[in-house]
Amino acid sequence: MSISNPQPEIIPSSSDPYLILAIETSCDETSVAIVRNGREILSNVISSQIETHKQFGGVVPEIASRKHVESITLILEEAIREAGVSLEEIDAIAVTEGPGLIGALLVGVVAAKSLALALDIPLIGTHHIAGHIYANHLIGDIDYPALALVVSGGHTELVLLESEGKFRIIGRTRDDAVGEAYDKVARALQFPYPGGPYVDRLAQEATEEVVLPRSWLEPGSYDFSFSGLKSAVLAEINRSRMKGETPDFSALARGFQQSVIDVVTGKALKAAAEFGIRQMLLCGGVAANRGLRDKLEALCQEAGLPLLIPPNKLCTDNAAMIAAAADLKWRRGEFSSLDMRGEPVMSLEEWSVKS
Ligand code: KG4
Ligand code: ZN
Repeated sequence: MSISNPQPEIIPSSSDPYLILAIETSCDETSVAIVRNGREILSNVISSQIETHKQFGGVVPEIASRKHVESITLILEEAIREAGVSLEEIDAIAVTEGPGLIGALLVGVVAAKSLALALDIPLIGTHHIAGHIYANHLIGDIDYPALALVVSGGHTELVLLESEGKFRIIGRTRDDAVGEAYDKVARALQFPYPGGPYVDRLAQEATEEVVLPRSWLEPGSYDFSFSGLKSAVLAEINRSRMKGETPDFSALARGFQQSVIDVVTGKALKAAAEFGIRQMLLCGGVAANRGLRDKLEALCQEAGLPLLIPPNKLCTDNAAMIAAAADLKWRRGEFSSLDMRGEPVMSLEEWSVKS
């Protein structure tokens, strides 16, 4: 049965205060947020499943779905209570439509559709990466054209925003995402999942560095590749062990981190110059990396390029960022149909605003 959206003719007036309730369940965080006027966070409740998945060394999709089912109602109630609003005051429901784990996405999508239908308000299916990028709009104004360096557990992309809500991917990883490479290297260094923050800490503390290759790819390319670097770390560990030596984990962590940072910041700054960028945005879970933040800040300052980096809580998966991206569509009256499904693979460029 097809259910048409009853609300597309609602065109919001820009002067009225409005509340967006957003839901994020694309991976291993169940999160609900209530955001006023697209930028003011009234609540942003996040329930992480990391402790459950840790014992398996990574996210187990089936377990993630079941955990979302268990917690979604509680998190929803907590977000409403914390915001001090009633459900009747909500003007639109936003939800991560994709990309992500299909079973996990569906829990959020079904909850969002039920709310939109029951409250008779618009539904806004939102792209997860648009959420990571527009987390920056919760902390400052964005000056266009802007360039977003997206570094998360599932994505590594350079996204050009010629104007508000228009996304163009100019570079992406050809194999592992940065966070994925961090987590795999962390496992080789015997850290628990997700190991990115442990590698970061070890790299900061290191006094020595094993210099590892930089994967620049062909000249002019803004794509990335991290699987060779990850293999180089594993090869170094094996080489040491074959010689009967103990591998220097901290020197390896530093070498790995330096190689990643040099390449991602190098390509971001080169693209900024080529495309006449007025502002750089850093986002995604790996934006919490101290070394990366410091290097990008230094390079942007040197280039006279303003930089926005959200605080850590807004870098990792959360629903406030989904509300911030959904706001682009709310202000243009671009709503989703109640037929909406979760999309494990979803194009960011196609999700761009229409007007
Ligand atoms: O954006 P996110 O929360 O989830 C995805 O949408 O993928 O990113 C999680 C990723 C994990 O791979 C985690 O290890 C990594 O971000 N991460 C870090 C740091 N903090 C989180 N990687 C390196 N350094 C960090 N400080
Ligand atoms: Zn994410």
